[in-house]
Amino acid sequence: MYHDLELVLQHDLIIDWKEHYKEVFGKHTLLLQNRLHELPVFQPENLARLIENTPSEHYDFVRPGVIGTKKSQWLQGSIDGAAGEDVLRAVEEGRFWLSVRALQAWDEGFAQVTSRIFDELEVKVPGFSSFKHKTGMLISSPGAQVYYHADVPGQSLWQMKGHKDVYIYENCEPFLSDEQLEGIFLGQTEEEIRFEPWYDEFATKVTLSPGQMAHWPLNNPHRVENHNEVNISVTTEHFTAEIRDFYAIVYANGLLRAAGISGNRHSRGAMKYAKMALAAAHKVIYKRMVRAKEGAKSPRTFRLDMSAPDFMGEMRAIG
Ligand SMILES: [Fe+2]
Repeated sequence: MYHDLELVLQHDLIIDWKEHYKEVFGKHTLLLQNRLHELPVFQPENLARLIENTPSEHYDFVRPGVIGTKKSQWLQGSIDGAAGEDVLRAVEEGRFWLSVRALQAWDEGFAQVTSRIFDELEVKVPGFSSFKHKTGMLISSPGAQVYYHADVPGQSLWQMKGHKDVYIYENCEPFLSDEQLEGIFLGQTEEEIRFEPWYDEFATKVTLSPGQMAHWPLNNPHRVENHNEVNISVTTEHFTAEIRDFYAIVYANGLLRAAGISGNRHSRGAMKYAKMALAAAHKVIYKRMVRAKEGAKSPRTFRLDMSAPDFMGEMRAIG
């Protein structure tokens, strides 16, 4: 099942592409067969080395609360210096998830795979031109969940190991209001957005198996439930000129709403550019704020310890 990176990249990664998919790409949920899971990096010993090589600032090792608890009760831990095999065993036997970020920026193999994915999509979907690509990996325990939320960039979810149910909802009321979308874009919505169990009647549910990828319309809220097995997934994110402009408009609307003026997500013409300028100016100030906040946010309060209860040991002072 695992092949050399060069061998995998010799052929298209997406294997069941149909000509008419270019008309629905980004507009409707698409489930695509692919060969990403054949990459040698997903072999357990290679995965263990990748985990060990992950820069400390590019991972979250999280102990979620029992199902249904708020994100604020989740604990962040450290796997710095841990053996990759131990991390994988803790995820398999305990209750954790490991999110590895920005793989395209620090792992040569993923840098190649990421460019390859988007080159391929740009050929398959005429007019699709994307940038600001980001690739992440999520390794999560049996039964783990990702709560209902929506994301800013275009997104695809690629399944490598295990199975998960992905519920995808439309990006409009009542599933996502303008105000909620603005909150997400402004970075103010940290907790999950409002979710009602009856939303599921209107959801598109896909069960991802290894070798499948789901791509859904921009900002569509979604939530994920692992089956009772370890899951390994990869996420790819992208921006297009259209997504960037939309981002600026929604961002500006959020600022205007805060000032008591309500906006429209579908601004056109001069108003659109005025809003983009407003958003750009504000972002400079905002970025500084976020950076200051990020540094202070979510300290790691435990470290992986295979001999401690629940694999959670005390943090040691570094010095
Ligand atoms: Fe997401």
